[in-house]
Amino acid sequence: MKVLLNLSLICSIFLCSSTSKLPKDLQQCSQTDIACLKSAIQDALPKLKDGIPDLGVPPLDPLRISKMTIGSGKIVQLVQNYENVDITGLSEATVNDLSFDLDKGKLVMSLSAPLIVVKGVYTVKGKILVLDVYGTGDCSIKLHKLTGTFSMDLETYSKNNEMHIKGTNAKFVFDTEHGEYNFENLFDGNKQLGDNINAVLNDNWREIFLELREGYGAVVAEATANLSNKLFESTSIQNMFN
Ligand SMILES: *[C@@H]1O[C@H](CO)[C@@H](O)[C@H](O)[C@H]1NC(C)=O
Repeated sequence: MKVLLNLSLICSIFLCSSTSKLPKDLQQCSQTDIACLKSAIQDALPKLKDGIPDLGVPPLDPLRISKMTIGSGKIVQLVQNYENVDITGLSEATVNDLSFDLDKGKLVMSLSAPLIVVKGVYTVKGKILVLDVYGTGDCSIKLHKLTGTFSMDLETYSKNNEMHIKGTNAKFVFDTEHGEYNFENLFDGNKQLGDNINAVLNDNWREIFLELREGYGAVVAEATANLSNKLFESTSIQNMFN
């Protein structure tokens, strides 16, 4: 019995651990060394560009969102459905500030990025600034000099006797110096009407951005939390920090 117990203890410590170490090219820090964690995250962003396929971590850049729906607002009175959205540029972000406290269960990180491009297939029907708008096609949204704050709550859970982090309730609040919109094939491809709406969107880019950013931010936050959680799932807290 004693031997068996010892064996299972040894097994759980050394042999049968299902989680991997933190990937070698990611920097390891102590949980409380915020300066180290900040530089480790900064260092990790470009390395996460293509994801970590072995660990099931999807690419960060582009960040793929298979489907998203942004609800109707005051100026933009239409429901926007997007598919196969690729968000490019997050791997080139700069981490300006970080707070991380596992005991309090909170991560807050402020970021800036020179250019974020959102591309996807849109479908809309409704009104923008009292103009009737409908259509489906490719679209791109360019956000120049984006600054934002990503936050999430950190919970911990036990898996195979090891503690792991899970990020929940993620939020991304952001602003941009300039936004550019291009929606192709509006009005079933009527170029004149389409160009007209794109011009209206771009002339009023700021008001429209302010109305839409909450919806976009929620989706980006969730996708980012999902990506982090894949990494947290594969690496226990003990293996993640030193
Ligand atoms: C996040 O993961 C959940 C669960 O796998 C999934 O349902 C959801 O669509 C993902 N969200 C995004 C924005 O990718």
